[in-house]
Amino acid sequence: MSIIEKALEKAVEQSSSKEPVQDLASGPGDSALPVDTARRDVETTKKTAETKRVQIQWSHLEEKGMLLPDKANSQMAEEYRIIKRPLLMNAFPEEENGIENANLILVTSSVPGEGKTFTAVNLALSIAMERDKTVLLVDGDVAKPSISQLLGIESEIGLIDLLQHSDMSFSDALLRTDIPNLTVLPAGRQHRHSTEILASDATKRLARELSERYADRIVIFDSPPLLAAAQGSVLASLVGQVVLVIESEITPQHVVQEAIGKLDACDVIGCVLNKTNKGFGFSYYGYGYGYGHYGQQYNQN
Ligand SMILES: Nc1ncnc2c1ncn2[C@@H]1O[C@H](COP(=O)(O)OP(=O)(O)OP(=O)(O)O)[C@@H](O)[C@H]1O
Ligand SMILES: [Mg+2]
Repeated sequence: MSIIEKALEKAVEQSSSKEPVQDLASGPGDSALPVDTARRDVETTKKTAETKRVQIQWSHLEEKGMLLPDKANSQMAEEYRIIKRPLLMNAFPEEENGIENANLILVTSSVPGEGKTFTAVNLALSIAMERDKTVLLVDGDVAKPSISQLLGIESEIGLIDLLQHSDMSFSDALLRTDIPNLTVLPAGRQHRHSTEILASDATKRLARELSERYADRIVIFDSPPLLAAAQGSVLASLVGQVVLVIESEITPQHVVQEAIGKLDACDVIGCVLNKTNKGFGFSYYGYGYGYGHYGQQYNQN
């Protein structure tokens, strides 16, 4: 048995000794939800037992240098603790903080390749490793999905299908993983009108449903780059917190500023300075965090 499998087995044991993890596909019905959403609740409850389980291919993640359960004491794990702390504090505040949908977090960037998927998946793994938190990782990059491939899981239907078919049950699209606290919603079938589908009211309803029904859970959306596709800013308008990934020493400041201009509707914008080995005492990441309009960017070199 590899170290990763052992670490995972331990995580499963620890989690099963506590109260059972609630199925992300189940949850109390909400009579205030619109008719089609309420219909999905009924369906969902019926089909809870059928939620598909998948096995993460840990070797894929290892090859890509991702955060693994057996690396809880690594520098990378520590860096993700620093990244997630303010996000969790906002999502589960001790006092009302006025941030709507604070448990919905979008990971985005200005341009392609800055490390959104890397950050979204590591963040999800890091939060899921906390025993009292559950995470839903959503592949919101519907035109160029990559989460399923990175995790090495097979998927066909997902977010786009849920948005298109209001009578589809969550359990038809969600994938439970071998990390007890981590569920994945893949991007779903390719659709040439995916931008319009994402911009529709169905997405707003879905975001509200995810935030309210699973209020004790963190939902992390991977997304396309803000300056390359309209879908990024559409998703940003639905979440409570945005993590803007910036590739250190590659992405010019004016490009980052233009991207921030697309995040007008967001209450909280944090920044991860990615792929840097300078400054802050961190090897690869830095995290700046600010309310409103990128007020405090701490981590500039
Ligand atoms: N901090 C990091 N350390 C090491 N490798 C990294 C880091 N961040 C990203 N990478 C690598 O850089 C490449 C691009 O990262 P990733 O796919 O996450 O970017 P992206 O912003 O999601 O790209 P796209 O816009 O194409 O979706 C990948 O090979 C990834 O493994
Ligand atoms: Mg990506």
